[in-house]
Amino acid sequence: MATYLVMIGPPGAGKGTQASRLSEKLGLAHVSTGDIFRDNIRNKTELGTRVKELLESGTLVPDELTIALVRDRLQQPDCRTGAVLDGFPRTPAQAAALDSMLADQGLRVNVAPYISLDDKAVIERLAGRRTDRRTGKTYHLKFDPPPADAELEQRPDDNEETVQHRLGEYYENTAPLLDYYSERGALHQFDGELSIDALTEALIVAVGEKTVA
Ligand code: AP5
Ligand code: MG
Repeated sequence: MATYLVMIGPPGAGKGTQASRLSEKLGLAHVSTGDIFRDNIRNKTELGTRVKELLESGTLVPDELTIALVRDRLQQPDCRTGAVLDGFPRTPAQAAALDSMLADQGLRVNVAPYISLDDKAVIERLAGRRTDRRTGKTYHLKFDPPPADAELEQRPDDNEETVQHRLGEYYENTAPLLDYYSERGALHQFDGELSIDALTEALIVAVGEKTVA
């Protein structure tokens, strides 16, 4: 039976960091809508042109476009065993659409790990985040230092003004999903202040419990 995880948390909470580790350890596809949009922007595709300004200002991409993209992505062969969804769903309409996509195949969201982090810590996380252009790996100048030969770049939406806007979008549109998944018995909260390794361990234990039960 395929396993579907939905990572929830404010910007910078560690969704991408943990989703990439979980996908590797559990043999599940890592589906990050933010990464898909950024790849399209980098490659100057039609989709990239449509979403560039939205990402740069930290505004959510319209549901219709995002849902169609994920529907297509979940049909790829690497998602047959399941997926770690990172940054999707982000609105109640996206959550309902995901449920219906999975229900069509007799599947459901097994676990929705919620990584909590306060706004002050979010700002510090995103101010220090850097990505190695060559490998695409994400680091933090203080908490997860990059190797000396890394070619570092910073996301254009990681400046403080845009981060505030992203936090506003999160509280308004995404936070309601905490109740949504709690009502469905899938929500599991984690303290985003834990170290990266401690968080991965806690996540693996929780996923094991929820998927065996
Ligand atoms: P997206 O790329 O999803 O951004 P986000 O949700 O704002 O989240 P981030 O990627 O900023 O943070 P993260 O939680 O992944 O943290 P990370 O692991 O990197 O979305 C970007 C944009 O795309 C949106 O604004 C929107 O425009 C659009 N979009 C995407 N999906 C959409 C959707 N479904 N609908 C509509 N629009 C959509 O960690 C952050 C930093 O902290 C790193 O430096 C890391 O090294 C460090 N770190 C991680 N964990 C720890 C730890 N435990 N301790 C110390 N440091 C840590
Ligand atoms: Mg991310």
